[in-house]
Amino acid sequence: MTTTEDFQVSVEAAEQYEARFVPAIFAEWAPLLCDIAGVRTGQAVLDVACGTGIAARTAAERVGPTGRVTGVDLNEGMLAVARRVRPDLEWRQGDVAALPFADGSFDVALCQMALMFFPDQLAALREMVRVARPGGVVALAVPASLDAQPAYGPFVDMAVRAAGSQAASLLGAYWACGDLVVLSDLVASARLEVTDTWTHLGTAAFDSPGQLAATEVEGSPLVDRISADVYARIRAGAEDVLAPFVGPTGRLDAPLRGHLVAARVPGG
Ligand SMILES: C[S@@+](CC[C@H](N)C(=O)[O-])C[C@H]1O[C@@H](n2cnc3c(N)ncnc32)[C@H](O)[C@@H]1O
Repeated sequence: MTTTEDFQVSVEAAEQYEARFVPAIFAEWAPLLCDIAGVRTGQAVLDVACGTGIAARTAAERVGPTGRVTGVDLNEGMLAVARRVRPDLEWRQGDVAALPFADGSFDVALCQMALMFFPDQLAALREMVRVARPGGVVALAVPASLDAQPAYGPFVDMAVRAAGSQAASLLGAYWACGDLVVLSDLVASARLEVTDTWTHLGTAAFDSPGQLAATEVEGSPLVDRISADVYARIRAGAEDVLAPFVGPTGRLDAPLRGHLVAARVPGG
């Protein structure tokens, strides 16, 4: 059972997320998500699991002064940064399992790069349906499966060779919703009508392959389960398998494939 405490990160970690990972990875997906959702002037938009709020901020540009944007996240640290960056938007602490909003409060519910972390994804989607108005839109962005990832796939294969099969499950959370057929079925199970799906090849930018390796290993429980020697082998292996994506300056632009899904809420 996941508890709220498990997900809390410090404001410092959330500031790092905003400064480093939002520009390097997540910002690219927010305009695409708003595009597929058809976010437009005057709408009321909810950003579910908003983190530091990149999708909400992007939606705010689209809805303009006559619209309304709210971000909700489990994590107070993330929300503190979201509030610092855009104090004019509404930020609420809450669990996707029980969103703190009345039925039909929003025209659009967005959820960017978070569905795979929810313990009960179907229940989460049903909550998004509940808080969206009949005829409204739920739109999701998730990373594609590992076998469709040109950089992360070989990286995880290499880590499994170095650290054993535990590496596959411990580095696997991100890719868990990445089969578009399974994802579309899940969305349909929440009584949503899938109206559009896009697959996009984005980029995860890092200073070096070693930085990607450190982010993956230290961002997962794997870091506590491997020796210094195994960790050194993973970092060295990353230099090899990610070499095709390293530019002349040594920086890594790792391709990151993801799926976007837009679905219509019944009724309306
Ligand atoms: C990878 S971040 C993505 C954040 C943001 N959507 C973005 O694109 O930058 C995943 C977010 O999901 C949030 N989260 C995880 N489980 C949640 C839950 N049950 N309810 C609400 N938020 C949750 C985390 O706190 C975290 O901010």
